[in-house]
Amino acid sequence: MDKFIIDGGQRLLGTIRLQSAKNSVLPLLAASVLTEKQVTIREVPKIADVLCMAQILRELGARVEFSGGDVTIDSSNASNHEISSALTKELRSSVFMLGSLLTRFRRALIAYPGGCDIGLRPIDLHLSALKRLGVKIRERDGFIFCECDRLRGAEIALDFPSVGATENILLAAVKAEGRTILQGAAKEPEIVDLQGFLNAMGAKVRGAGTDVIEIEGVKTLGGVTYKPLKDRIEAGTFLIACAICGGETEVVGVPAENIRLLLHKLRENGCKIHSKNGKITIESTGKLKCNRRIETMPFPGFPTDLQAQATALNCGASGGSLIVENLFETRFKFVPELKKMGADIEVKGRTAFVRGVPRLHGATLVSCDLRGGAALVLAALGAEGVSEVLDLSHIDRGYFDFESKLSKLGAHLKRVRC
Ligand code: UD1
Repeated sequence: MDKFIIDGGQRLLGTIRLQSAKNSVLPLLAASVLTEKQVTIREVPKIADVLCMAQILRELGARVEFSGGDVTIDSSNASNHEISSALTKELRSSVFMLGSLLTRFRRALIAYPGGCDIGLRPIDLHLSALKRLGVKIRERDGFIFCECDRLRGAEIALDFPSVGATENILLAAVKAEGRTILQGAAKEPEIVDLQGFLNAMGAKVRGAGTDVIEIEGVKTLGGVTYKPLKDRIEAGTFLIACAICGGETEVVGVPAENIRLLLHKLRENGCKIHSKNGKITIESTGKLKCNRRIETMPFPGFPTDLQAQATALNCGASGGSLIVENLFETRFKFVPELKKMGADIEVKGRTAFVRGVPRLHGATLVSCDLRGGAALVLAALGAEGVSEVLDLSHIDRGYFDFESKLSKLGAHLKRVRC
């Protein structure tokens, strides 16, 4: 297992070209099997989750080729509707395959999906929505078997705006008979991107980005070449890194409205933020004030995927902060690691109370999930002395070339193969 050795205390200066959004690319890959025609997704980061999704598509019988940063999928020979549990357990997004496989083959067999260990992560909303579309579902011994004679458009209301359930419904309804109206949809930019991708294939989807999405089922979908949106979570991670370390950094490719609340919070910390034409610049002295309160919410609220990084920032800022995690039950697993660096944090259920300390110090840290792992790296970059971050497998699921991008900004870190 690889580890990072990080010598903290360097200012970060320079420009970051962002990768395509992990949370867009994964559902687009799942959507690629909706058609028998060739699909090309441009500028795809070769992160572990993408490689795992490519493997799932190959297991179905599709040809998947990476070339010059793009990935091309030809699923004309795909015939398998089963995904092995080894792959579904590795990747939460394998759950999207339910919608795609049902549209393509009218049946799907998958094991309960895995992904980061950040809470229960049930899929009841996905399954009840699929039932509304006419799908029969049997669950046994950790497997889900879905089948239907045909998919029928329906009125569906989600009790909670789940990102994954919204995406699954789009994938299952896109070729269903008649119209599907989804109330209470998730509004994340990645949902808008999926709508753009499906419509470019010939689908009739509208309303993504609002509470109500309408899907008029179509008979066929064609091939497509599509460039996904850039990764707002990667953008946020680099902006927080610069805030912690001090310096001046620009991230290119994400519109400010996709991370509006983070930018507001960084201004509260005392950073200067400018945004124009898809470029966001941060200037930080490294001497930060705590945010009084950060509460994670569905978009456009503060993203749960930036909660850990923001917690790390507040540990070394002056004052106190209350961090409330509303989306996932156990998303503070990185806190004991930050405490090894001298952070003063108390967790009670879904709330963390942070009392800022003047400076964190280096320590040996274990990364235990994707965003929590990134938070440890950021804390170590701002800390005094040398840190080690062990087990990079989680970070590699979501950040491509994390260390070279950070090194380009002036950070001192290296990957050591253990
Ligand atoms: C997606 C993202 C993930 C991000 C999360 C929140 C992808 C691949 N993953 O995850 O990176 O952290 O959104 O922005 O895009 N819930 C239920 N029942 C369900 C589904 C969800 O109770 O059937 C609950 C969850 O437990 C959680 C909340 O709804 O409390 C949000 O989950 P959801 O939006 O579905 O997140 P994911 O799609 O899993």
